[in-house]
Amino acid sequence: MKNMKKYFNYHKGEGFIEGCRLSALAEKYGTPLYVYSEKTIRESVQRFQKAFSKIAPIIRYSCKANSNLHLLKILKETGCGADVISPGELTIALAAGFAPQDIVMGGVGKGEDEIEFGLKKGVSFFSVESLPELATLNRLSSKQKGEITALLRLNPDIAAGGHRYISTGKREDKFGLTEAEVVSVLKKPSDFPHLKIGGLHFHLGSQIDSPEPYLKAIKEAERLHKIYPFQFLDLGGGFPVTYDKEMAGIEVFGKAICGAVKKMGLQIIFEPGRHFIAPAGFLLTRIIYRKNRPHKRFLVVDAGMNDLIRPSLYEAWHNIRTVRELKGKKNSFEIVGPVCESGDFLGKERLLPDTIKEGDLLLIGEAGAYGFAMSSNYNGRLRPAEVLVTGKKSRIIRKRETLANLTEQFT
Ligand SMILES: Cc1ncc(COP(=O)(O)O)c(C=O)c1O
Repeated sequence: MKNMKKYFNYHKGEGFIEGCRLSALAEKYGTPLYVYSEKTIRESVQRFQKAFSKIAPIIRYSCKANSNLHLLKILKETGCGADVISPGELTIALAAGFAPQDIVMGGVGKGEDEIEFGLKKGVSFFSVESLPELATLNRLSSKQKGEITALLRLNPDIAAGGHRYISTGKREDKFGLTEAEVVSVLKKPSDFPHLKIGGLHFHLGSQIDSPEPYLKAIKEAERLHKIYPFQFLDLGGGFPVTYDKEMAGIEVFGKAICGAVKKMGLQIIFEPGRHFIAPAGFLLTRIIYRKNRPHKRFLVVDAGMNDLIRPSLYEAWHNIRTVRELKGKKNSFEIVGPVCESGDFLGKERLLPDTIKEGDLLLIGEAGAYGFAMSSNYNGRLRPAEVLVTGKKSRIIRKRETLANLTEQFT
């Protein structure tokens, strides 16, 4: 796969990420282990910025994809702001150094206490998903000194995204305001005197494979802009990553979207998550047992659905390779975890060299987004450590959980 090949290489039969030998990382930090390539993150952001340079967008990295403090610091250095969904993500983003004015707070169910928390921390951009929420934000903003901007998240009833669970812009999805609701606000923004109605927000889905859904959303925005001349158009995230199917490059999206919005003269905002961080992250895991059955060969590895739930939850496909470069005949394997669920698998029917054995390491690719972020303690398992690779250097950026962590919250 294109992404994987670029940042993963074999050298003298040994797998490397950037200049770090994976078997050495496994030895030093243990497995399962999330490994991130700093170079990849920086390159993904730069390429995105270049693709959209004609419209100079505001880019707010969507922290839900991966909110490791140290990765956020890198994303801040590249010039991104942050899109947060909870006081928790906001706290990490602030700790990473994002200025409150570069942060937007979103989310379909922000409670009053959460909005208040955001305002107290100096956040001045909110994406709003219902009329009662808008009324609450207006009321709470009356106590604020600075201007508070509301972006109205419109549910445009547009189908987009790679799996039904990650489609967010269809009428039947829980997200956003209806068009009628948005129109009612745009026609009478004076009903919300303590807010600036800054514009529209769309997030159509994730893993969107062509610019078309964005272009439809832009058309919708163009129509609504005639009712009220708002300043911002936030087109959300959703830009794709190559897992199994080769996806269009970001330049294809850049060309189409820049062409469509340029004449509107709006300030465009994007909130990519997956596109920046998925290709930069890998899950390194060790084979505990090989079970040769008459009908199937299983590789039971030490990473499970609690570490990386995407295959179980979305039937997502991740590239899986051996860390040692093995030659010879290949066979089909089921790569499964130790969790007590038949749905606990990382890959099905994968062709791997038949000489593979217990103790060997496997590398799961494109695991940087919605990997660690969705991990859990299911089955009493400890969440893995995270390591950042920069050239030949590696450093731990999140400690592996301990058994003490599992019991310390009990009263
Ligand atoms: C509002 C919003 N913005 C941005 C994103 C990031 O999406 P992606 O990781 O596909 O870029 C999401 C993902 O769920 C989202 O809900």
